[in-house]
Order: sequence, then structure tokens, then C-alpha cells
Amino acid sequence: MKIFIQIIIALAGFTALYSQSADLPDDFLSKEWHKGRRQKLRESMPANSVAVFFANAVRNRSNDVDYVYHQDPNFFYLTGYREPEAVLLIFKDKQIAANGVGYDEIIFVQERNAMREMWTGRRLGAEGTKSQLGFEQAFNGNQFKKYNVDFSKFSEVLFYDFFNDVRDNPRDSADLYSLIEQFKEKVNYPKKDNSLIVSKEQPKNNLNTRGLNPLMVNLRGVKMAEEIELIRKAVMISCVGQVEVMKAIEPGMSEREIQGIHEFIFKKYQAEDLGYPSIVGGGHNGCILHYTDNYKPSLNNKELILMDLGAEFHGYTADITRTIPVNGKFSPEQKLIYELVLSAQEASMKACKPGVELSYLTTVSRDVVNKGLVELGIIKTETEKHLYFPHGVSHHIGLDVHDKGNRILEPNMAITIEPGIYIPDNSSCDPKWWGIAVRIEDDYLVNKDGCELLSGYAPRTVADIEAMMKQPSPLQKFKLPNIDSQK
Ligand code: GLY
Ligand code: MN
Ligand code: MN
Repeated sequence: MKIFIQIIIALAGFTALYSQSADLPDDFLSKEWHKGRRQKLRESMPANSVAVFFANAVRNRSNDVDYVYHQDPNFFYLTGYREPEAVLLIFKDKQIAANGVGYDEIIFVQERNAMREMWTGRRLGAEGTKSQLGFEQAFNGNQFKKYNVDFSKFSEVLFYDFFNDVRDNPRDSADLYSLIEQFKEKVNYPKKDNSLIVSKEQPKNNLNTRGLNPLMVNLRGVKMAEEIELIRKAVMISCVGQVEVMKAIEPGMSEREIQGIHEFIFKKYQAEDLGYPSIVGGGHNGCILHYTDNYKPSLNNKELILMDLGAEFHGYTADITRTIPVNGKFSPEQKLIYELVLSAQEASMKACKPGVELSYLTTVSRDVVNKGLVELGIIKTETEKHLYFPHGVSHHIGLDVHDKGNRILEPNMAITIEPGIYIPDNSSCDPKWWGIAVRIEDDYLVNKDGCELLSGYAPRTVADIEAMMKQPSPLQKFKLPNIDSQK
């Protein structure tokens, strides 16, 4: 009885909560935009096919705590739906429902549930998915099992293959695990422990797990005007983070504190997320390409700090790296390496235009860096194998930091150019170079003649960085109590 009363009180409280506005931002991609993307995908699909997409899994951190949910980028691109436990079907041709209604797309989403929403937040439910996301056919996930479509009639059922990283959620009978199991049943998916990709076999039926990705690569690689606007915003937010850190940084600060300043600024501008875990490496920590420990408690007066961070705004991420001297002035050796990396980036930027292969931008940067390293006496010949520049310089950005996109550049592709030189301690060169790690990473929009630098707001030259670092910061006045002495 007591529990019953508690539930009634909770539901009454919840109803009051849900009747209030969700106070959402009003600049998300529109439902018409997502619908247009579904139509474009449909046009590119093979004859008599259906494409099936699943929402991203909720991933458990431990016990009662899950990782913060992030929608699968394909699912978001096609729907705008930001909740888990959902499946989307897009048909090449009109299907006829039992009641005679024609439809060419259908979505199953998580059901409204007052108790669960009180704990974990508002859900759109089938009705909200219709009204807010513009689907005509939207149902609760528990309807998927009896959704009666004969998959054997299609020439191709296109979907991304499954990996064994989705949990069954005992609280919910229409969770992602169940939706996938029901789908497998409906399409007669081969009963194997491993996914089709792992088995390297294409099944002998109409299941196609390879055909969907090239279609999504074509669509997502070339950005629409609305996406470019969001990328520009994410890039500007991330640039402001770099600028404010240039003003605020002082020897003795920690890597974590520098990370915090960037991420505080991202949040100030309403960026929901990070595009990837922030990389903030002082001195030789910068040599670890994806260093995310950010544990160094006190940055040294003489070292560089490499900061590779990207704000994610309404799904779209920036990817920007600046490397600056902690004390505000590059040493002669740091300056030589920095300017070599910058000249490699400038050379790749000049080469960046439609028709060029992304990998060519790496070739261009590598030639500049190798010549420069020979001139500085760090390597002996331009063809010497070395690990001072161990990565490529370019990838697409968008809903993923390493976004989908074709290798040949076209107008309206958004990419990075990010050469680097990393010289770990004990390298086989003069010790004066040891511990110097520099990456300069900017974001570009390919246009019809070349490319536009999007992230120029964050200073890139030695002179501009040193000048910015002389500027005052409001954070210099921000002093916190020493909690170690508060016994
Ligand atoms: N931040 C990851 C990358 O630069 O590719
Ligand atoms: Mn990058
Ligand atoms: Mn990066």
C-alpha cells in the first residue's frame, strides 16, 4: 500500500514536471532537414531494398551508472532522435500497411514511461516522434516484434552488422538488445556467435552488411549548409577555448586545469559534449598522440603544451590543436620545430582543393617535414625511416571527429590538416630537441577553388601566439581556497 501511494505521488509530481516546457534550444537541425536526408538516402538505395538502422547502445559504466548517452551519428543524421532503444526502417518503395495506408519509412522508439522519465529524463515517445521529428509512422518499440513485414521479399536488406557489445536490459522488454534479436529473427540472420563481418562471409540470402556504409559515406561526406553552420559554431567555440587558455596559462598550472578551462568555455557556449576525449599534454606527454590522462600536476616553465580539443555543438564537432610555450615565449629550438610544422601545414593547405586525394595532403606535409628535419640535423636523409611524424594529416570532421567521407576532395567537405613533429626523450638526435612535441591542427571547408580556414580565430604563428599570451585573462583573478590547509 505504501509503495502504491508513493507511486501515485511520484506520478502526480511527474505529470507536473512533464507539463512544463523542456526549454530546449531552438537551433537544432529541423525535422524537414532530417526528412530530406532520408529521402536522399532512399534515392541512392538499390531497387527493391530496405535499409535498417539501430540507435546506439546505452553503455554501462558500472553498477547503477551508465556512460552519458550519445546517439549513433547515422541514426541522428537520419532522424534527429537523441534517445536510445530505437530502430528505423527506410524503404526504397512504398509499402502498404494493413489499413491500406502507404508509407516508405517507419520508426520504433522507446515508450513514454512516467516512472522512468522521472529518473532519467523526458522521452518523445511515438507521438512526440511524429509531432517533433516529422515521422508519419512512429510506434513504441514493443510493437516491433509484431510488425509484419516480409523481409524475404526485398532484393536487399541493408544494415550495419552487429557487434557483441549490446546488453540486455532486464528493466525493458523493448530495449536495443530485444530489437536486434527480433530483427535477426525476422530476417533469418545466420545463427552464429560472431558477427558476419568477423566471419568475413556474405550470407547467401538477401542480407547486405557492406552496402549501406558507402551510401552513408557519400551523404555525410559532403556537408549541407545547415551542417556547415553548426561546424562553424563548434569550431569558433573551440577556438575561443584556445585563445582563453593562451591568455590564462602560467607555469605551475596542471594539465587538468588547462583541460577544464577549455571545457568550461565549451559549456559556456552551450556545447553539449566533446567530440573526443580532450588531449592536453605538457612536454613529452605531447608525444603520446592521443594522450588523455591529463594527469601532470604542474606544468614546467620551459616546456610546450599540446592541446587537441573539440567542442561538439548540436552533434557536430571541431578538432583543433594548438601547441604553445607554457611561459609565453618559444625557445629557439621550440620555435624551429614549430615553424617547420606550420610550413608543412601551409603547404598542405595550398594543395587542398577539389579533385585532390586526402592522402596527398599527408605526402605534401611529410616532404616538408622530412626536408626540414634533415636541415636541422635531426635525421640524416629525407628518406630515413623515423617516428617523429607517425600519422596522416587529414580526415573529415562532422558528426564524428573522424567523419565519414570519400577520399577525393569535393566542395563542402569539412576536413582537418594536422601535421606534427614529436621528439621523445632519449631519441637518437641532439638532446636539445628532446621532449619537443608540436602538432598544429586546423579545420577547413573545401570550396570550389581551394579551401577556407575555419579555425583561424585561434592564433597559429609564433608571433601571434606570443602576442596573445601577453593579454590579460579574467582567470588570473579567479583564486580558490587552498583546501589542503582546511583541516
Ligand atoms: N583529435 C583526434 C585527431 O586529431 O584526429
Ligand atoms: Mn584530427
Ligand atoms: Mn585532433
